[in-house]
Amino acid sequence: MQIALLFETAEGQTRKIADFIADRLHAAGHKITVIDAADISATPSIEGADKVILAAPVHERRHPPAFEATISALRTAIATRPTLMLSVSLKAAFADGLNEARDYLAEMKMRTGISPSEEAMVAGAVRMGSYDYFERQILRHVVLQGHEIALNDGPHEFTDWDALAAVVDAFVQA
Ligand SMILES: Cc1cc2nc3c(=O)[nH]c(=O)nc-3n(C[C@H](O)[C@H](O)[C@H](O)COP(=O)(O)O)c2cc1C
Repeated sequence: MQIALLFETAEGQTRKIADFIADRLHAAGHKITVIDAADISATPSIEGADKVILAAPVHERRHPPAFEATISALRTAIATRPTLMLSVSLKAAFADGLNEARDYLAEMKMRTGISPSEEAMVAGAVRMGSYDYFERQILRHVVLQGHEIALNDGPHEFTDWDALAAVVDAFVQA
């Protein structure tokens, strides 16, 4: 099966997720084309794809504007293919944050006009050492609000790789 995987990342976790999916599907015998929305100057073609996977992180309550612009331009091609949208956020890491994580995606769908056939909220990661003061404040007081997590300067990964693999496998095999 031919699969197009379109993603964008800011700090690298969604790239890691895209690489994980690409390796897994490649090993299962699929042909997968990975497109970084930040690297392209024109809307990519997904005409040859049987299925589409979209993956993007949330920063300050929304997915990257360039990613949204790309999928908005592709919405007709997306509408005619089974499409799995992976929304990567930290709110998705906590049971009491899931509704907010779903809201980010609902707002993105309204802005872009896309309606993926399947979607999943995927927990991302924290990389305190690479944030500036403003970003650290947002992380501690807005995103992780109420969650006492010991964050050192190294990466702290919340992504559940087994759960992600199960979602992707079910989507591809359906
Ligand atoms: C400045 C900043 C703002 C963020 N805002 C949100 C947010 O509003 N909601 C949320 O759930 N996660 C938020 N996050 C967490 C990111 O979604 C998470 O770190 C994710 O793994 C980033 O993916 P990336 O490494 O692919 O960019 C924020 C992270 C940073 C650094």
